[in-house]
Parts: sequence; C-alpha cells; structure tokens
Amino acid sequence: MKKLTPKEMFPLSSIEQWEDDVLKRYPEPGNMAKSKEEFRNYDSPEVDSVREFYRLNHKYQTYENVLAKKEHFLKFQQMEMPWWSAMEFLNTLIDESDPDLQLDQLQHLLQTAEAIRADGHPDWFVLTGFIHDLGKVLCLFGEPQWNVVGDTFPVGCKFSDKIVYPEFFADNPDTYDERYNTKYGVYSPNCGMDKVEISWGHDEYMFQLTKDYLPEPALYMIRYHSFYSQHREKAYDHLLNDHDQKMFKWVEKFNPYDLYSKSPVTPVVSELKPYYEDLIAKYLPEMAKL
Ligand SMILES: [Fe+2]
Ligand SMILES: [Fe+2]
Repeated sequence: MKKLTPKEMFPLSSIEQWEDDVLKRYPEPGNMAKSKEEFRNYDSPEVDSVREFYRLNHKYQTYENVLAKKEHFLKFQQMEMPWWSAMEFLNTLIDESDPDLQLDQLQHLLQTAEAIRADGHPDWFVLTGFIHDLGKVLCLFGEPQWNVVGDTFPVGCKFSDKIVYPEFFADNPDTYDERYNTKYGVYSPNCGMDKVEISWGHDEYMFQLTKDYLPEPALYMIRYHSFYSQHREKAYDHLLNDHDQKMFKWVEKFNPYDLYSKSPVTPVVSELKPYYEDLIAKYLPEMAKL
C-alpha cells in the first residue's frame, strides 16, 4: 500500500466520532425522539469526517489487509504490562482536539461494566464490559483509525448492502476479485464465523488476546460487538452456523450496554479499581501481552 497521508490515517478528530455515529444509527429504544433522518444532518463537518472515515475503511479493508494485520499483530510483540497498566495506557488515547468534551476510554469501559454489574450479570460479563475496547491500543501502535474502529464485516465474500455506506465498497479491489465477490466467496454455506475472516480492528485483536481466558459468550461479545450488519441487520445468516446463532444472542445482549451506558456522571476510578483488579486476577494472566 502506498504511504498514507495524515488525513488518510486520521479522518476523525476522535475515534469516538464513529461511536457517536453508531448511536445515531441505532438510538436507544424509547429514546427515539429524533428519527434517524433528523439525526443525520448531511451538511455538518462531523458527518463529513465520518463519511470520509467510512470511505477509507471500505476502500482499504480487503482480505489481504486482514491477513497482513493478523500476521503482524497476533504475534503480540508490541508491549507487555500488567492489565490495569494496559487499561491506563489505553487512556493515553485522548481526543487532542477536544480533551475536555468527551469521556475518556477508561470511563466508557467502567460505565459499560458498571451497567452490566448493576443488572446482576455474572462477573465474567462485567469483566468483558470492562476490557472490550482495550484493543483500541492499536491506535497507539500507529494504525490508521479505519484499521482500529468502525463497523466490522466479513471479507473474502460479497460485501452486504446492509453495511453502513455500502456504496464505498466500489473502491475496494475485492469487489472486482472473482475469488471474493460472490455470496460465499472463499467460504461455504453456514460454515461458521470462526472460519470467516472479519475486517481488522480492535474487536478481532482483543478476541485473539483473550481467547484462552474467558468463557465463550464473552469471546463472542468481544469479537463481534462492532459487527452491526449481523447483530442488528442479520445480513450474514448464510455464514453463521447454529452454534453462532445461539452465541450471537450474547452479542445482542451486550450491545445496549456498550451503546447506551454513556452518562455524564463519571465513575470514580480509585473506588472501583480494587473490584476490577480482583476480576482481572480471577480470569486473566498477570501480564497483558499486547
Ligand atoms: Fe468497541
Ligand atoms: Fe465500546
């Protein structure tokens, strides 16, 4: 790939802009005062940067990109540190243009986890909420935003028109590659998601980092939480097997905590730290190998 310009690396002023856009697309039920149309003000600079983000994401997320990123990052040779330190390291990722306006990463993770905990779910579910976005450290390893966040989708088969901004796949070379542009592409009917390569980002990276330590429902939540074209739109039922269908119920259960737990009341990190340190110690090895 040719060298990317800063604008191609960082089309968003903050990666939270993507999540804000998802929230507009999938507003909380009962909180639908603004319709999708009203939300989407096509002239705002924010919408322009989100559009540009998706243009780049859909152009560059090829089958080849996914294999190359897996090859590089799944050696986990970037850094090694205790888990809590890794969470603090993630928190150095702040929105430079507007550091005061947004919740930092740790606050989003604590709010997600605390909402899960308040509903009485098992402790591994709470831990999942707490760590699910740690993979965004990829941004701190020099990755472009479109290789870290954004809706994820299968590569190696036809891109669904249920993926946000499907028109931008016209720029993706896989759209014209006969190996990858049919309904099943390199896959077979209902082969199961474990056989399917999914666009690269913080979700797949974090799944690979935790796959030996957490219960299976937690791993599905982590791996597929940005796979909106499936867990919201059911665009890839032809690739899922029966077991995936059962496990995606957990992904659906997780999603509202991720999207709708944001609150202006910020959690007090020092008060919560002992509880989360214990949870980490119960399930995860001492060191996070990033
Ligand atoms: Fe995420
Ligand atoms: Fe999240």
